[in-house]
Formats: sequence, C-alpha cells, structure tokens
Amino acid sequence: MFPEGYRRIRQSPVLRNLTREVTIDPLKLIQPLFVVEGIPNKEPVPGLTGVYRETPFTLIKQIERDLEKGVKSFLLFGVPASKADRNFDPSFTASQIAAIKKRFGQEVFLAVDVCLCSYTTHGHCGILNDSHDHVMNHETVEALADAALAFARAGADCVAPSDMMDHRIAAIREKLDAHGFHRTLIMSYSAKFHSGFYGPFRAAADSAPKGELKIKDRATYQIDPANPSDAYLSSVRDMDEGADILMVKPGLPYLDVIRDLSDRIPLPWAVYEVSGEYAAVELMAEKGLIDGRRAHLESWTAFFRAGAEMIITYGARHARDWMESK
Ligand code: PBG
Repeated sequence: MFPEGYRRIRQSPVLRNLTREVTIDPLKLIQPLFVVEGIPNKEPVPGLTGVYRETPFTLIKQIERDLEKGVKSFLLFGVPASKADRNFDPSFTASQIAAIKKRFGQEVFLAVDVCLCSYTTHGHCGILNDSHDHVMNHETVEALADAALAFARAGADCVAPSDMMDHRIAAIREKLDAHGFHRTLIMSYSAKFHSGFYGPFRAAADSAPKGELKIKDRATYQIDPANPSDAYLSSVRDMDEGADILMVKPGLPYLDVIRDLSDRIPLPWAVYEVSGEYAAVELMAEKGLIDGRRAHLESWTAFFRAGAEMIITYGARHARDWMESK
C-alpha cells in the first residue's frame, strides 16, 4: 500500500489556503508611477501593459483607481521636460508630490525615486567630470541630497535613492535631519545590479545614457551581477548610514541574493521586479505561451519565499483581480 502522505494537505483550495506559508496581499506591494512634464495625454509604456507615462491630471485619477484595488503604496518617478548637467530643478516632481499628498494624505504611503538620470541631458545618474569619462561621486551626492530635501519638503513619506553613488544615504539622512525631516524614511536601492533588464523603464523615464559619451553604460556605479559580496557590503553600509528599508533589484535573477541578504541584514527588504522581467512575462502571455497572471503571482510568491517584506511591481494594481481569478 502506498497511501496519501504529503498530498493530504494539497487536496482542496480551502486546505491549500490554510496551509500556505506565503500569502500575497496588495498591501505588501508598491506600485511604480511615472509622471511626465509637458505631455498632452498619457502614453502607454511599451512592454508594461497597463502602465502609463501619466500627466499630472491622469496621475491622480490612476491613484484613485489603484486605491480601489487595495494598493496603498506607491513609488513615484518624476520626469521633467527640461534637462540639465548640474543645478537640477526638482520643482516639477515636487509639485506632483504635493498634489498627491493634498488629495490623498495618509491614505497613501508615497515613496519618491531620487536619481538624476531623468534630469540630466546625457542620461547618466549623476554629474559628469569635464572630460566626460566619470560620474563624480561627491558632486552627485550633494545634488541627490538637495533633491531628496525638496521631495521631503513637498510631503514625500519616503525618498528612494536609486543612483548607486557611494555615501548618498549618509548625505541624505544628514540633510533631512538638519531641516527637521526626521520622520521621512529612506528606502535604499542598496543591492542594485548593473542589469540588462531595465530597458522598458528607461524608455518610460527618458533615462537611457545617450549622445556621444565615453561612458556608455552604468557599470562604473551599479553592482556587477557576478559580485554578491559587493551587494552585501553596500547594503550593510547603507544600513549603517541610516537607511530604513533596503532593496534588491532586479528580482528573479537575484533570488539567491534576496535570501542571503535578508537572512543576514535585519532591516525590512524590498524587491524590485524590474521592467524587463515584468515585460518578459507579459510578452510570453501575449504570445499565448503562458498564463501571465499565474506567472506574475508565482514570481511574487518566490520573492516573499526568499525573504522579502515588500515587492515593487508594475502589476500591483492587478494583484487583487489576478488572485480572485486564479
Ligand atoms: C534610475 C532607475 C532605474 C530603474 C529604477 N530607477 C533604471 C536604471 O538604473 O537604469 C529601473 C526600474 C525598472 O527597470 O523597472 N536609476
């Protein structure tokens, strides 16, 4: 006789729900939002079904719909119309933060991405030296801290630096505290890798390195995919400098890193399911090769299983519908 054993707990949906170790909840998901200055209408983002480059008007409407779907946390990317090489103007993004907070207040948790790649003429995440072969660390960190302060002043609950300069967390914490913003959180993209999966995002945020440049990519500041030790050291450093939440980015190709870092570093961990990995699932689904909903839910389950507390995903706003239709 070979009777049922481990299969006993798998036999009904009720029992499977009851025994499940990992559950997905829209309250554990963060929805990215793009708001673009100077476009007359919202524009779809190629590859990211249901995600738009929003106008200030459509942005508020979208958040209203997202709240109805149970999503309460957002990561805002502001894309200004005019670009610069230094002395960046944070006012467009700041005005959008103020508008969101005026309309929704404490109903939403609003994190704001802090990087310069949508603000620079060349698309790099910082200020270039005169010979245009290096992103200068100190000058960039000062500009990032100024932007973070402007966003905190506008009402952001959290600032999220994604640039990968050294010591930006210390600089931002110091600047926020000096101006009385002791309660503004910092979510650090601490384990952000130099990934080939960021393509659709760069089109949405207008942030791909462009023009005649000696440094063509972000390899001199983002972490090498082959160096998990660098991700560990950078994350410990960011914790020590005052980050409240740490992040691994991208998600699926770095599950080992999520497991390892969340075990070793006792802060809340976010995972960013980035544009390329999200689009990969969407494209397979479009071709009829897989069921996209199942694949997305399975990816999110993997992130929680690996130790994440929260997930940044373009599909946050669909989570509830997808779970119900499963
Ligand atoms: C900006 C930034 C990037 C992403 C988030 N913030 C792109 C990059 O580093 O080139 C990627 C997000 C995604 O692909 O979904 N520095």
